[in-house]
Amino acid sequence: MERTFLMVKPDGVQRGLIGEIVSRFERKGLQLAAAKFMRLTPELAEKHYAEHVGKPFYPPLVDFITSGPVFAMVWQGDNVIALTRAMIGKTNALEAAPGTIRSDYAVHTNFNLIHGSDSPESAEREIGIYFNQDELLDYEHSV
Ligand code: CMP
Repeated sequence: MERTFLMVKPDGVQRGLIGEIVSRFERKGLQLAAAKFMRLTPELAEKHYAEHVGKPFYPPLVDFITSGPVFAMVWQGDNVIALTRAMIGKTNALEAAPGTIRSDYAVHTNFNLIHGSDSPESAEREIGIYFNQDELLDYEHSV
């Protein structure tokens, strides 16, 4: 069993897509372990996107990600990282496969609705930024 960090970004919250996005993961059979509706500070954004500091898209990314509330989540299940990445689609909405969240709802790379961890290492790191261990719930779940 694996865990991943997923976050509906400010554009997804503002467009009323939290329910739609959560529903897709629920219907897939994945298990919600934690969730938090919150607003990122610039410091938290820098921690999250440390690998992108210095890139040309970093300043607009921080402006955007701190511009409104986000819905931060931890999901768990077998192969949850690869499965959710596939359901989210490629970063660039133009390249996202039909039926993915970004293909169905996003137009622009800078406003791509949702973040998903890309490896077990980044999942562990990102979960640790947003959640304490005791906030991750284990409970009976059937698919
Ligand atoms: P995310 O998966 O949250 O990780 C980094 C974010 O930076 C990415 O989604 C995009 O929203 C944003 N971004 C903007 N331009 C680029 C780019 N050229 N390459 C990667 N990410 C980009």
